Amino acid sequence: MNLEQLMKVAQNLVVPGKGLLAADESSGTIQKRFDTIKVENTEENRRDYRELLFRSTEAMKQHVSGVILFDETIRQKAKDGTPLVKLIEASGAIPGIKVDKGAKPLPFCPGETVTEGLDGLADRLKEYYGLGARFAKWRAVIDIGERKPSYTSILANAQALARYAALCQQADIVPIVEPEVLMDGDHDLATCERVTEWVLKEVYQQLYYAQVVLEGSVLKPNMVVSGKKNPKQAGVQEVAEATIRVLKRCVPAAVPGIAFLSGGQSDIDATAHLDAMNRIGGLPWKLSFSYGRALQAAPQQAWAGKSANVAAAQKAFSHRAKMNGLATLGQWKKDLEKAA
Ligand code: 13P
Repeated sequence: MNLEQLMKVAQNLVVPGKGLLAADESSGTIQKRFDTIKVENTEENRRDYRELLFRSTEAMKQHVSGVILFDETIRQKAKDGTPLVKLIEASGAIPGIKVDKGAKPLPFCPGETVTEGLDGLADRLKEYYGLGARFAKWRAVIDIGERKPSYTSILANAQALARYAALCQQADIVPIVEPEVLMDGDHDLATCERVTEWVLKEVYQQLYYAQVVLEGSVLKPNMVVSGKKNPKQAGVQEVAEATIRVLKRCVPAAVPGIAFLSGGQSDIDATAHLDAMNRIGGLPWKLSFSYGRALQAAPQQAWAGKSANVAAAQKAFSHRAKMNGLATLGQWKKDLEKAA
């Protein structure tokens, strides 16, 4: 294990002003995204769309530290034959890879899942390193609901995350550790806070048992928010304070950075929350973004599968990347959204 390289990559992923583009939608997930813009889910369309993002030069150079890819994309070539990985590297961003194989039903835990993908992972990581990946992602999913989450699901997911993270570091790949507490229910902010704290405590315990070196890892958590179906939605400052409170209780200062997922928040909420947290300041870790939907919804709408719209889509993507880049510095302002 090359700890120095791991630490350098982890620090670069969360460098202030930049964040991660999560473009690792599986074929099923990108299908859902393309359905909303009425684009056929073909390999060519997936390539054209992602090429458009990676060729958004300004956004990529100035505001994107790394890109999370899906297995298909890390092997794909742009229309002119350049490997997509090379486009990303040329912009100065670091290529990464999603290595989990999805959340699967967990026995005896109705409605809960455990993320699979450990079998053969050591060999896959070796191949991905050869293809240019310097970091990886594994997403565990925890749902809040009646009798959910169970400790069974929290423990199983935390143990899988820990084994994944150790395998990554052994392969000189920085693990992004992603335990996502879903915001889908009607629960309140306090419930999300309690569950997120429980999950993160268990995750860091299991990372310790697996001998993961925290300095060479990045955490990708949910923010502490009200459930989407709860009529009483917590405000920006409340979300920021609750999230910071939980992170301070659970995440060791040795972790270089935390890159949040957007998880179904609106584009502006995801930016405003990150900005508010960075304005609080005095934190031991960098706070950044690793957004999928909150970076891509706007460019997807603008593109709608038409080559004539590529420039407009790139503009929309660049704008969101810039806004989130400012939020990593605590320098975003709502007026900047209107101006655009
Ligand atoms: P969202 O920001 O859309 O939640 O996606 C981030 C991600 O990578 C989820 O695994």
